Amino acid sequence: MRQQQLADAACSVSSLGELLRKSESRLDAAGIDQPALESAWLVEHVLKLSPLMQRINTERGLTPEECEGVQVLVERRANREPLQYVLGTQEFCGRDFFVTPSVLIPRPESVLLVEEAVRRCVQISDATIVDVGTGSGCLAVSVASALPTARVLAIDASTDALVVARNNMARYGVEARITCLQGDLLDPIGQEGLPNQVEVILSNPPYIPDGDVENLQPEVRDFEPRLALAGGRDGMDVHRRLIAQAPAYLKPGGALLMEVGIGQAAAVCRHAEEGGRFRTYVVLRDQGGIERVVCFEKKEESLSSSSS
Ligand SMILES: C[S@@+](CC[C@H](N)C(=O)[O-])C[C@H]1O[C@@H](n2cnc3c(N)ncnc32)[C@H](O)[C@@H]1O
Repeated sequence: MRQQQLADAACSVSSLGELLRKSESRLDAAGIDQPALESAWLVEHVLKLSPLMQRINTERGLTPEECEGVQVLVERRANREPLQYVLGTQEFCGRDFFVTPSVLIPRPESVLLVEEAVRRCVQISDATIVDVGTGSGCLAVSVASALPTARVLAIDASTDALVVARNNMARYGVEARITCLQGDLLDPIGQEGLPNQVEVILSNPPYIPDGDVENLQPEVRDFEPRLALAGGRDGMDVHRRLIAQAPAYLKPGGALLMEVGIGQAAAVCRHAEEGGRFRTYVVLRDQGGIERVVCFEKKEESLSSSSS
C-alpha cells in the first residue's frame, strides 16, 4: 500500500527540478539540517547524475522507477535513518567502506588509532596487530593497507558485523592478511596461540554510558547497533576488560590503543596505571582538541608476571 502511494506520488513529479524541490521540502519538514544537499546526494545515488549536472538539467524528465527510487530513499532519510545507511557507504581514511545497520558508521576521529598503530609498526616486518570490535573493518583494512607485511586479526562479537567487515576487506584486497574472528574481546585469539606476540592491540570500543544512549540523536539512537554504542554504567566497561586481558597477548613494549569518550581519558589512564602492567605514553587529541585515544605500553616486567 505504502509502496503504491509512493509510486503514485513519484509519477506525479514531472521533472528533475520538481523532484529536487519536493525532496528538499520533505527532508526540511523532517528536521534534516542540510535538506537541499542531502536531496541532491540521494538523487545522485539513484540517477548517477552529479549535483552540478542536476542543477543544469532541471527540465529533465524522469521514469517512474527513477522517481520511486528517489522517493523511497527520501522517506528513509526523513525517518532519520543515517544518510550513510541509506547510501550504503562511508568514507574513512581515504577509502569508501560498505556500511549497514549492523555496523557503526566510521567516525573521522578514529583515524588517530590507525595513525598510531602504523607509526608503531612501520619499521617492523611481519607485525601482528589485533583490532578488537572491528565493526565495518575500517581500522583493520586501513592498517593492513598501510602495512603490507603485517598480519591483522579482526574480532567482533557480532557475526553480522563480520559479514560487512569481510566485504570491505575483499573490496580492498587485504582479506588474505586479515583473520576475522567472532567472539568476546580477546577470547578468540587465545586459540590462535599468540601469548606475548602482538605488537599492537587497537580498539574503538563502545563507550557511551548506558544511561546516555536514550539521549543520543535519533540517527544514532534508533539505527546504529546498541552493541557498538553502550559501554556499561560509566561507558568504560570494555576499556577495563581490555586493560585486564591485553597484557597476556602483547609483547613487552607492545601497545594497547583505545578510543575513549569525552572526559574518559584520565579515568582510563588511571585504571591502566594502577593495574601495574602498563604505562601511558601518550593521549592523542582529535581535531576538536578532545582527548580521544589513550596509548599504553606494556611494561617489560609484566613479561615475567604473565609467564609465571
Ligand atoms: C564503536 S564500534 C567500532 C567499530 C569500528 N572499529 C569503528 O571504529 O568504526 C564497537 C564494535 O565493538 C563490537 N563489540 C562490542 N562489544 C564487544 C565485545 N564484548 N567483544 C567483541 N566485540 C564487541 C561491536 O559489535 C562494534 O562492532
